[in-house]
Amino acid sequence: GLPEAVTIYEVGPRDGLQNEKVVVPTQDKVDFVRRLMAAGLRTIEVTSFVRPDWVPQLADAAEVLAQLDLDGATRMPVLVPNDRGLDRAVEAGVRWIAIFGSATEGLARANLNRTVDTQFDMFRPVVARARGLGLDVRAYVSMCFGDPWQGPVPIAQVVEAGKRLFDLGATQLSLGDTIGVATPAHVTELIGAFGEAGLGPDVLAMHLHDTYGQALSNAYAALRAGVTTFDSSAGGLGGCPFTPGATGNLATEDLVWMLEGLGIRTGVDLDLLVETSTWMAGLLGRPSESRVLRALTAS
Ligand code: HMG
Ligand code: MG
Repeated sequence: GLPEAVTIYEVGPRDGLQNEKVVVPTQDKVDFVRRLMAAGLRTIEVTSFVRPDWVPQLADAAEVLAQLDLDGATRMPVLVPNDRGLDRAVEAGVRWIAIFGSATEGLARANLNRTVDTQFDMFRPVVARARGLGLDVRAYVSMCFGDPWQGPVPIAQVVEAGKRLFDLGATQLSLGDTIGVATPAHVTELIGAFGEAGLGPDVLAMHLHDTYGQALSNAYAALRAGVTTFDSSAGGLGGCPFTPGATGNLATEDLVWMLEGLGIRTGVDLDLLVETSTWMAGLLGRPSESRVLRALTAS
């Protein structure tokens, strides 16, 4: 059977805006988050406390957060890779952080300046201190299906890295298809393998990029396998700047359309969401990739 409710974990302001040529002005980022809240999204990953010279698009993380209500009902996690990032996040008053590890050497090097093994030394003190301060910690594991340097990534390699990241003290593990090459049977197999390693679908989330147009099918496979948290991005924005060939995330509009069609309540007002994504597409100077958005705005 299918679940009655799912959690949509909106990543547009973070995954979406980190990969754009245009640096969106701080005030427009704040408005983006507020409009997503108004559209009914209740978990919104707002920004990243990473090296500002690596990701200048999100260098104004503290300024954005200063204008948002971090004690309200909407959860607003941020990416934090290391101690310096956690210092900045704590100073900004965040209550939810996400570490982001890699299952492959290629991305560990390109994204974190570490190896798969040494990434844990960077994350361990971050998670320990964050949990000690009462913050919630999510862990991402990237390159769960394929990797531009390595090619296909064996299930055992992904489960090993994912379990080590989760066991640092996270409450949820988000499985990243960073380059969007997954297909549904592969998704089902990976979720099963995590289950055998003690990480059931209740602690998993799916983070699907849509490069090959498979993200929605993959989300459906994960839903059938018991996963109830899905990352998506308004208008289908997104991509990792340190991964060749990475494109946008599963569009929130497409996910909402499917879930509502399945009778699963999302609480999202699709019209408000489409208006928001259309406005952001205008600021970025390129049309949205979301098929549902295009269908709903065609005249
Ligand atoms: P590093 O160079 O190894 O860091 O970077 P370091 O500790 O050696 O420090 C070097 C300098 O950077 C120092 O400055 C630090 O203070 C500064 P100096 O003393 O030389 O003047 N520094 C910082 N400044 C501000 N904030 C910080 C920070 N850290 C160091 N947090 C690091 C290591 C991880 C920081 C770097 O590689 C980095 O910033 N990486 C971020 C990459 C990134 O944001 N990628 C995109 C997000 S991941 C993603 O998109 C995938 C995901 O969506 C899931 C999926 O799709 O699969 C999550
Ligand atoms: Mg991503």
